Amino acid sequence: MSVQQKTFTAFVATVAVVLALSLSVAPMAAKKLMKPSQVQTQTELTSQRVERGKYIVSTAGCHDCHTPWKMGAKGPEPDMTRALSGHPEDFKVPPPPKLGNGPWVWTAVGTNTAFAGPWGISYTANLTPDRLTGTGIWTEDIFVKTIRTGRHWGVARPILPPMPWPVYRNMTDEDLKSVFAYLRTVKPIRNQVPEPVLAGEG
Ligand code: HEC
Repeated sequence: MSVQQKTFTAFVATVAVVLALSLSVAPMAAKKLMKPSQVQTQTELTSQRVERGKYIVSTAGCHDCHTPWKMGAKGPEPDMTRALSGHPEDFKVPPPPKLGNGPWVWTAVGTNTAFAGPWGISYTANLTPDRLTGTGIWTEDIFVKTIRTGRHWGVARPILPPMPWPVYRNMTDEDLKSVFAYLRTVKPIRNQVPEPVLAGEG
């Protein structure tokens, strides 16, 4: 081999080694760089959603019906110590008054968590993340489908009035996911809401 040939062979070998090294190291380096930033992005997204969800829940009236009202200094107000826990299980309501043929067609109890009307009697759901009695075992997908379809768990019985799902179904996916993300963060409260009574059943 001439000196020139030797130099060339050594050069090719070096290039091959450098290439092989960079091919095996580069993905590792990229992984190392990407992983933390991806995690951060997910955390950021979740905290953005929680903030937005809190805003939506506090402006779309969820507390009006899902947080039991108590008598405050200026009249009835949502009892925030029981925020979003639905109709209180220890508040057994008597049969609703007979309203005749109108013009009054529906009534509510003082907690604003039980309603009687042409549909029967409905009780507001426990939206806190309690796993037994609230939304603790719900997935984001179940929540979004529930609001979109107006059906319990997105597949079962129709959700009764006055739950304004026909309004909330117009929210974007991102907003509904944000509401769910926020609901994950509220204090879980164990409170078994009674089943509704359908008109004609009770
Ligand atoms: C005007 C009263 C009212 C308001 C306001 C209201 N809800 Fe409801 N909601 C109800 C009632 C009543 C039910 C139970 C209906 C039933 O049992 O069929 C219910 C049920 C639900 C359910 C349970 C559905 C299921 O599958 O069990 C979810 C989830 C829900 N509401 C979320 C919300 C959210 C989120 C908001 C605010 C953006 C909200 N609600 C505002 C009255 C209301």
